Amino acid sequence: MTRKTVRIAMNGVTGRMGYRQHLVRSILALREQGGLDLGDGTVLWPEPVLLGRREHALREIAERHGLDRVSTDVDAVLADPSVDIYFDAQVTSAREEALTKAIAAGKHVYTEKPTATGLDGALALARLAHDKGVKHGVVQDKIFLPGLRKLKRLVDGGFFGRILSVRGEFGYWVFEGDWQPAQRPSWNYRAEDGGGIVLDMFPHWDYVLHELFGRVTSVQALAATHIPQRWDENGKPYDATADDAAYGVFELEGGAVAQINSSWAVRVHRDELVEFQVDGTEGSAVAGLRGCRVQHRGATPKPVWNPDVPATEVFRDQWQEVPDNAEFDNGFKAQWELFLKHVYADAPYHWDLLAGARGVQLAELGLKSSAEGRRIDVPEISL
Ligand SMILES: NC(=O)c1ccc[n+]([C@@H]2O[C@H](COP(=O)([O-])OP(=O)(O)OC[C@H]3O[C@@H](n4cnc5c(N)ncnc54)[C@H](O)[C@@H]3O)[C@@H](O)[C@H]2O)c1
Repeated sequence: MTRKTVRIAMNGVTGRMGYRQHLVRSILALREQGGLDLGDGTVLWPEPVLLGRREHALREIAERHGLDRVSTDVDAVLADPSVDIYFDAQVTSAREEALTKAIAAGKHVYTEKPTATGLDGALALARLAHDKGVKHGVVQDKIFLPGLRKLKRLVDGGFFGRILSVRGEFGYWVFEGDWQPAQRPSWNYRAEDGGGIVLDMFPHWDYVLHELFGRVTSVQALAATHIPQRWDENGKPYDATADDAAYGVFELEGGAVAQINSSWAVRVHRDELVEFQVDGTEGSAVAGLRGCRVQHRGATPKPVWNPDVPATEVFRDQWQEVPDNAEFDNGFKAQWELFLKHVYADAPYHWDLLAGARGVQLAELGLKSSAEGRRIDVPEISL
């Protein structure tokens, strides 16, 4: 077995996603398992270079995890030929410029979504990466969640017959920050800093719908800012200029209709923070982050509408749990592994910057639809 060291510049590891999901749960988890076995006698050993703006915060993380390289000089790290991959989990507004530099420096890039704040920028990144011949990947973690993997298994197995509709419900109450600290960073609620739930969540809905049910062909959305004032990390009040809820209807190739509510101003009365109900001619399913339940056509009860009497059935009990039938690793780590195999073993990989641009396009057209109060076609994009 040969061990190949792979240097990955990781920018934004002091943030929520960069630290927990990407550094700890993915890259360090890969090291804990002894590296990534490529199956050809090579084991990849990821060696992160922690990049960011605050050296003391980076050093603290490095020490906590026994890592030795940190830097606040992005250009110097990008000029280092021993660094193969640049990863970005910075705030959304800082991403496009950083990725452009990394690609121009000839690095392979892996990045959080959204890849840019607008379609032009997202497409420019995809084209630049194509022209430079580097490999590129965009985080599309939701399809690696156990609940959605079970749902995909049902789709692939033909469980639903003809799929009619998809209903998604995502969200939870994000505290305003005055009497209890907010559990999400304040930039998410400022449009000028790349915030907003449409830009945050529509990229997810784009690939979830595309990969499971078909490409999104039109969008009609209503974005709202329900909570106009919030308090930031320092307890200072600020105007929430970005949308904190979005009510979207999406037409899909193949004829199904999806309707997804996304909100940071909703209280949870669900089993999971995101749930999708899929109804088809042969059966229905409700999938969350981890669980997935089904009701087959042959086992569908016949409810009768009668508001004069209390409900006579417990509708939730009429569904059957889909078994795991597999071990599900952390979704972020699973996708990192596929990306590393793509870079070092040429394994196929389609969650790339063009796919990322499709997500940004859906967000952009969703906001346009909301501003103009109309349904908008979503044209197919290409390099
Ligand atoms: N895939 C997912 O499920 C998912 C979930 C949440 C967030 N995200 C994405 O991940 C990215 C980071 O989100 P987060 O919630 O971790 O944010 P965060 O605020 O916790 O972290 C942001 C990181 O960017 C750095 N940064 C760089 N330039 C900055 C600037 N000008 N101002 C402030 N911080 C700056 C911060 O130091 C920090 O390391 C966003 O693009 C977001 O859309 C993805």
